[in-house]
Amino acid sequence: MTRLTVFLSVLTGLILILVLYTFKGFPVSNEKFDLNKTEAAYVAHQELIKEVTAPKEVEAVGEVAEVEYAPVVDLSTPQLVAGNKIFSQCIACHGKGGEGKTSQKAPHIGGQYDWYIEKQLTEMKSGARVNAAMMPILKGLSPQDMKDVAAYVTLLPWNKEAYLEALKAKK
Ligand code: HEC
Repeated sequence: MTRLTVFLSVLTGLILILVLYTFKGFPVSNEKFDLNKTEAAYVAHQELIKEVTAPKEVEAVGEVAEVEYAPVVDLSTPQLVAGNKIFSQCIACHGKGGEGKTSQKAPHIGGQYDWYIEKQLTEMKSGARVNAAMMPILKGLSPQDMKDVAAYVTLLPWNKEAYLEALKAKK
């Protein structure tokens, strides 16, 4: 019994010393509370937050100068008319000529095989190919819409030279 008492006393003493020791380590500020100083610090902190969270200007790295494509696709069939209408939803990312935009990570699709475009759209919609960026648009596209837009996109010139050629041929 006495052994236990001695042991517990020593343990308590050690813990007490430890607590007192760490307590001494706490920085104690004797400064008086200064409202102006606190407010200034608060304002400075708000400024910092504003600076850090401000939207950064996006640098378009390696962006190809946007090609000004005039419409070169003859809207000679109802399908092409429909496809042209649907394609207006694609321009923001893929460009007017389907030339693609690096800033949107959207690839060149103008002049691509129609069957390939249709297959990609079908698979993106089903989830077999994941494309979160296009999902909102795909939701509104029927299989016929996909065929129509593919028929239109495949007629866009594959590159600038082909485009100029097509423009010449039109004249
Ligand atoms: C919000 C931007 C955005 C819009 C709008 C958009 N796309 Fe895309 N599209 C992308 C991105 C990004 C990719 C590349 C996906 C990847 O990396 O797999 C892509 C890929 C594709 C591909 C696959 C190309 C390949 O070589 O495999 C096709 C085809 C395509 N888009 C067609 C369309 C069509 C048609 C429309 C309009 C109905 C459209 N996209 C609208 C962003 C967009």
